[in-house]
Formats: sequence, C-alpha cells, structure tokens
Amino acid sequence: MTEAVSFTRHGEIALAVIDNPPVNALGHAVRVGLLAALEHTLADGQIRALVIRGAGKNFSAGADVREFGQPFKAPELGEIIERTEALSKPVIAALHGSALGGGLELALACHFRVALAGTRLGLPEVKLGIIPGGGGTQRLPRLIGARAALTMIAEGRDLDAAEGVSRGLIDLCVPSDLETAALEFARTVVRERRALRRTGDIVPVIDEPQVFEEFTQRVARRQRGFAAPLEAVQAVRMAYQLPFAQGLKRELEMCMALLNGPQSRAQRHAFAAEREIARIPGLPATTSQRPIETVAVVGAGVMGRGIAMSFANAGLPVLLLGRNGAAAEQAQAAIAKLYAAQVERKSLAASEVAKRAALISYGAALSELRGSDLVIEAVPEDLTTKEELFARLGRQCRSGAILASNTSFLDLNLLAQAAGRPTDVAGLHFFNPAYAMRLVEVVRTQTTSAEVTATLLQLVRRLGKLPVLVGATEGFVANRMLARRSREALFMLEEGALPEQVDRALTNFGFPLGPFAVADLGGLDVVLATRRARFARLTVRERAADLLEQLTARGRLGQKSGAGWYRYDEARRALPDPAVQELIVRHAATRGIVRRAISDAEILERCLYAMINEGARLLGERLVPRAHEIDVIWLNGFGFPAYRGGPMYYADEIGLKSVLEGLERYRATVGAEYFSPAPLIEKLAREGRGFYTP
Ligand code: COA
Repeated sequence: MTEAVSFTRHGEIALAVIDNPPVNALGHAVRVGLLAALEHTLADGQIRALVIRGAGKNFSAGADVREFGQPFKAPELGEIIERTEALSKPVIAALHGSALGGGLELALACHFRVALAGTRLGLPEVKLGIIPGGGGTQRLPRLIGARAALTMIAEGRDLDAAEGVSRGLIDLCVPSDLETAALEFARTVVRERRALRRTGDIVPVIDEPQVFEEFTQRVARRQRGFAAPLEAVQAVRMAYQLPFAQGLKRELEMCMALLNGPQSRAQRHAFAAEREIARIPGLPATTSQRPIETVAVVGAGVMGRGIAMSFANAGLPVLLLGRNGAAAEQAQAAIAKLYAAQVERKSLAASEVAKRAALISYGAALSELRGSDLVIEAVPEDLTTKEELFARLGRQCRSGAILASNTSFLDLNLLAQAAGRPTDVAGLHFFNPAYAMRLVEVVRTQTTSAEVTATLLQLVRRLGKLPVLVGATEGFVANRMLARRSREALFMLEEGALPEQVDRALTNFGFPLGPFAVADLGGLDVVLATRRARFARLTVRERAADLLEQLTARGRLGQKSGAGWYRYDEARRALPDPAVQELIVRHAATRGIVRRAISDAEILERCLYAMINEGARLLGERLVPRAHEIDVIWLNGFGFPAYRGGPMYYADEIGLKSVLEGLERYRATVGAEYFSPAPLIEKLAREGRGFYTP
C-alpha cells in the first residue's frame, strides 16, 4: 500500500504491517499508510476485519520523536487512532517486542489485542517530559483501572504481555506465531460476530477515590521537579470526570503544552544524547572486537564486589580475586547480604539469588588469571600498588587479554606503561554502587587499541549498562568536573555558607542530594582518602581548606558514624549541626576569611559554572568528542535533573554569554586560578553560539 505500511489480504482478513525501521515510529509516512489501510478495509466489501502488526523487532515505539518541535503534518496520530476505534469492522492489534507510547495508544483504540509473550507494553511519555496525546490517558484507565494506569502513565512503568492479560489489556497472549494467531483470532471474531469493543465506550468506574491524591503525592516526591508526571495524574483523573471526547481534547492540549515547554525539550535532548554517544567519531561500528568469555575482577572491596555482581546480574560468569582467602570469603558473604537485601526490598526474586551467586567464583591468586580474556582491577587507589599490579598482569595474562582499571583519579597512561602492553590497557570506571548504577566511563589512553575500546563498549552494553567513551585525564569526565563543584562548595563554607544551605540550593535546582549529604553517605573517610591521594595537585587554598580533616579527626565519618557534615537521628534524617557551624566559623576566623551572607543564586552559579567551565576544557582538550557525552555522564552518574538536560545543555539554555559574564565576575572575586573562562566558552560566546549550536 505504501512503503511504510504494507497491506495484504488473507481471505476475509486484511493485514496491515507497519514497516518503518528501526522501531516503527509512527511518523508521517506510517500515518498516511495506516489511514489508507483503514479506508481500504472499510471500502472493500470482502474484507471483514483488519489486523495491524509491526515488522522487525517491535510493534511500534510510538510517535516519531524526530517530528517533535515541528508542526505535525496531517493526518495526525490522534486522527488515525480515533478512526481506528470508530471503524465499523473489527480491528485487531497484533503486538510484539515493544508497544510503546503512540504504538500502545493505537492498540488501545483497536477493538481487540493479541500479543506475543514477552511484549513490553508502556506509555513512557513522562520520560520525555510529556503525557500521552493520542488518548492513552483516557483509554488505558477504562481498560485496566486508575491505579494500574497511573503506574504506567505517571511513573512510566511497563507491563509485560502476561500481566497485560491478567489486567484486561490483552485478550490473548501467544508463545509464538503471532501473525497466524492474530489472523485466526480475527477469523473467530468475524465468525462469532463479536461486538466491536470500543474502549472509549466503556464507562469508567472509580473504585479508589483517593488514588489520585496518593499518586499526586507519590510523583511529587519520587519525581520531584518534573512537570509531566503531575499532569499525567491530572489527565487520568479527567477520564473519570469528563465525557470521553472532551477528555481526549483536553489531554492533547496538555500534551502539546508540555511538548513545547523547556522540560520536555531538555528530556528529549537527554534521550537523543544517550543514543548519539553510541556513534563514536573515528570508531566505526564495524571495528573488530575481541571475544570475552572469561572475566576476572581483582580487588574484592566495595567496588570489586559491585563490579562482579554486575556481571552475574547480566548472566555472565566472573572470578573475583581478593587479597587473600579471608578477603575473598568476606566478599562472598557481603555479596550474599546485598542480594538478600534486594530480595527483602522485593527488587529481586528469591529464585534469582542462587543463579547469580553461582556465577561468581572466588579466588586469591593472581596465577588464576592466566586464562582470562578480561581482567578488571579494583584495588585501592594508590599508584604504586596499581603499577605493581599492572606490571604483574602484563607478565602473567595471556597475550590479547584486556587489562582494565577501575581507577577514578590515577593516570591510566602510567598504568598502561607499567603493564608493558599499552594497547591492551583501558579504564572501566564504574560508579558506586556498581551493581545498580548504569553509567560506566570507558576510558581510552593515547595507546588503547580501537579493538579494545570497541570490545569494552560492547561488553558494558552486554551488562545492560550505559558506556560513555572518554579520554584519560585526571578524574576522567565525571570526577574531574565533580572536583570543581566540590571545591566551590568547600570554599563557600569558608566564605559564609553552611552545608545545609549549599545542599538546599542544589536540591532545589533538582539534584537528588547536595554535595555534603552525598559525602556523608559515601563516608568522609573515603572522601578524605581521595583528597589525600590528590593532595599534591591541590591549590594552596584547597590544601588549607582542611574541614574534612577536622571533621574526621573528631570521628565524624558521615552517616555510618552518626555524624559528618550533618548529625543523624535514629531515622537517619540529616539535621544541621551547630557543632559543624562552630567548626566552620572558627576555621574561617583562623584563616582570616571574613564570612558574609552568600545567596542561593551565587551557590548555584559557582557550583554549576565551575563544572561547565571544566566541561568546556574537556571538550577543548578533546578528551570527549562532544558535549553529549558530558551531559549523559552527569544525567546518569550524579543525578543532574533530566528536565534540565545536563550541564552543557543547561549552559546553552542560559546562554554562553551569560555564563562567560558569570565566570568573569567570579574570576574577579574568587580568583583567576578558579574561574578563568575556558577558551572554548570565550570563543563560542563571542560567536554567539552554544555547545550544541553548529
Ligand atoms: N521515534 C523516533 N526514533 C526512535 C523512537 C521514536 N519514538 N524510539 C527509538 N527511536 C530510534 C532511536 O533514536 C535509535 O535511533 P539511532 O539508531 O539513530 O540512534 C533507534 O530508534 C533505536 O533505538 P534504541 O533505543 O537505541 O534501541 P533499543 O532497541 O535499545 O530500544 C525502544 C528500542 C523502542 C525500546 C526504545 O528506543 C524506546 O524506549 N524508545 C522510546 C519510546 C517512547 O518513548 N515512545 C513514546 C514516544 S512519545
């Protein structure tokens, strides 16, 4: 019928197949094809029913996000969906892979739904900062009730096909041969003259009146700062308050208002950036890779354990080496405890634990690494220790084995040299807790081979994680930028702020926690160890700003000791501590710094501009190919609010001219050592451009 939608007849049943690679997004060509299929079905007297399915891996991933931000060309998706529901002949959706967003909305408007087992059904629009605009908020609750619909629409959670059956969303779930089953289902519908079930005709009955208030509070808490989830709750509520047609109209208006707003623009940027970074300039997708079958992690501390668990969680066997037998045993017990806690929290099925635990074997002798294809080192952050280890790995591991380090600050180029086979060495920088965090910085040195880089990127994807390729520099991208923010936070304490004020300014901006609360969580002894490791490279003022040393000397190690930058009550609530204030005030006096009132605006600017400036330097030094990498790292590693798009996107939103003015202002007050604008910012600002303006 058209290139994007094929149309064939199978006896009395017509079959329309959406074929718009890669994910059957419902772009203009598909909409034209679907409309033609509907019209043809109606016009042809011999056709008694229509089945719609998708070619390739998915039914459909929904509206084509590339069309967002431009005027929609007719026919619009809403029109197709409404005409599907209104058709006087039965329409059956045959779903497989993913049926998301507009794809599921189209299916909701079909009169029957058949799905292949394992199909993911979802309305994930909130993740793009919008709500469904094709009737999803009005039809889904009519089929599955308010609570289940709110979970899907306001929280963006998927259902799988089997659950879809039990909730009344799917009429039939088949293990295989979807097309045959759907055609057969259509024949039965025709033969039995089943009534057309139009979802819009269902009169919704509210059985839990309080559910909307419950979700309003829940999303306000769990998705703090995001506009779309609150609107989603409101839209689902409308399904119970407004006549169907009015509900549809209002839903679309709300969707469009969000679509044209800043949050959705930023969230769409985040979505696109995550995909963009998979395309790496100079590293074609065809780059050959090394087979990775046997993996070992050396170092059974917190990071090593988390990394080993990441492999087991992805179904891959891994050997975890401790310093000695006792350390390995300790690690095994700690991992068992972590899995048990996940079962307790219901985030892991009890039946999974044994399977995963069995994938991790333990050892203590480096000689066990001879057959490994990949060794990941996670021993303490000390250059000599790591250099010695890499020298041994270089000698002992088989040729072709990849040697990766999980260091977060040390110079990878030195480790590559120590190994004596620098092309095989790279960084795999996991974030803590490694078993839970998706982000992994894949670090290449000047000598890492393209084959090794490509292999590691793919391996991280196999772990279900998000690899971001960066260059070898102190702290790589994440920690190098974070160090700038931490430095300003510390300086502002000396100059007049308190930890709770700094944290509040950043949480108000949208970070889940402020820097001081994060430090307390990770342990001040851990932060101090990093500070000591970097001490030689700190500025004179940073060295003198020894508040961490003072706190830890008083036994204040953060949450684990009941006090750090905050004190903690029994419920582990952070409370501002007058003792910390006193310590800071005394410190400032000793250092001869006159404390003053610091505004929240200054806190935000100094923290963010210091990061952005460092990001620009990383770009200028070509340690990351594009600003996208930086935004993805901050969005996934440090909780930068997705609705602000990441630091570099945010800088563009403010305008680099304003950022430059800010940097110059702080250069005058804080010092050239800290706020000299990066040459790239000066250049882009002069040209009236941004990081993302070509
Ligand atoms: N519109 C346009 N393009 C889309 C798209 C959409 N709704 N969804 C995905 N794509 C594109 C991606 O940008 C990517 O393009 P690229 O290869 O040029 O980078 C490609 O399809 C593959 O997507 P990717 O996410 O890398 O593949 P996957 O197999 O891991 O996941 C999906 C597939 C469908 C599960 C996932 O892409 C997804 O969740 N998409 C968003 C769905 C959504 O939010 N729909 C609501 C729209 S309002």
